[in-house]
Amino acid sequence: MAEIVIDHVTKRFGSFTAVDDIDMRFADGEVACLLGPSGCGKTTLMRILAGLERPTSGRVLFGGRDVTALPPRKRNVGMVFQYPVMYPTLSVAENIALPMVHDRAVSATERRRRVDEVLDVLDIRPLAGAFIEDLDSGTRQKVAVGRAVARQSEIVLFDEPTTNVEVNAKLQLIRAFKLVTQRLRQTIVYVTHDQTEAMTLADRIALMKSGRILQYDKPQVLYNEPTSEFGGWFLGNPGMNFVSARVEEGLVRSAILADPLPAPATLPRGAAITIGIRPERVRMTGEPVAGSVPAILVDQAIGIAGRYLTRARIGETEIKVNTERRPPAPLGGTVHLSVPRERLMLFADGTRFTA
Ligand SMILES: Nc1ncnc2c1ncn2[C@@H]1O[C@H](COP(=O)(O)OP(=O)(O)OP(=O)(O)O)[C@@H](O)[C@H]1O
Ligand SMILES: [Mg+2]
Repeated sequence: MAEIVIDHVTKRFGSFTAVDDIDMRFADGEVACLLGPSGCGKTTLMRILAGLERPTSGRVLFGGRDVTALPPRKRNVGMVFQYPVMYPTLSVAENIALPMVHDRAVSATERRRRVDEVLDVLDIRPLAGAFIEDLDSGTRQKVAVGRAVARQSEIVLFDEPTTNVEVNAKLQLIRAFKLVTQRLRQTIVYVTHDQTEAMTLADRIALMKSGRILQYDKPQVLYNEPTSEFGGWFLGNPGMNFVSARVEEGLVRSAILADPLPAPATLPRGAAITIGIRPERVRMTGEPVAGSVPAILVDQAIGIAGRYLTRARIGETEIKVNTERRPPAPLGGTVHLSVPRERLMLFADGTRFTA
């Protein structure tokens, strides 16, 4: 068992709070992606898990064992950071074997077996004897991944391991990474600010902002059921639309709504209400349909992978639209937008409101 428990962990640097009372657990054998914008505290949290940083308060437990005060080498975790330390004068196989060399619990035969296994899964067996300095950045990172997983520690931490890898090699690396994690069921925490990477790799995603975890759930749930405006905006390409709304006499009114919605009785009074809609849920037609509102097309539609991305304006309100069909009007022309009610989300002061 190597469940990771983060028990009310806070980290302050002077008066600045980088990690703000995080209280959560990463399940044994799962790949958890820590996803969030630059500066939100991802690396700080990883360094706390690795033992490179002591929390200001709170505890960290691995498999029920309190490791808060343990140095990195006593935690039995594998790590891959953005710029991993590699030994240029050692071969690929030697680099992978290195963390096991002084481990008396691992025999030389077992060490070779593990190195071979990792070389196979990562599809770099022919490079076993090559030197690190002769490899491109993507392959180097594969070796770093191999080294982190081969020792079979129960927990492996990755901090943006694909950042310095060029685009083509990146996909390959992610594919290899996925294979490795499926083969060796370790508890993995993988930091990224790239939503596609997180959606591809994670069993669950922890969405982080300003030192806090806003939501921790399966990728599809994060995408379809964001609990915050931030989550709706941060995930998606482009992110969710937010249209301001007001509550009057028990009804929610908004520029995007042809007919007002009944306001839930428990909606907080005086809160800033917005309606959230994913751009791919907006239907755009040339003629009015039931529940549609007229809008002016204000952006040249660009076609991407068989879809069209554009924007339309209702009065002052701009709506991003991502549609399967080419827009039915030219730039500056009138279109009609409608959104199925079940696809609308209500937010009060930035938090998703569910009655
Ligand atoms: N040793 C330190 N002293 C002071 N401030 C720090 C220290 N380490 C981190 N910070 C601050 O804490 C905040 C979080 O930093 P952190 O590196 O954890 O963010 P991150 O989410 O990993 O960002 P990125 O995506 O850019 O890597 C930042 O504002 C950073 O400047
Ligand atoms: Mg970082």
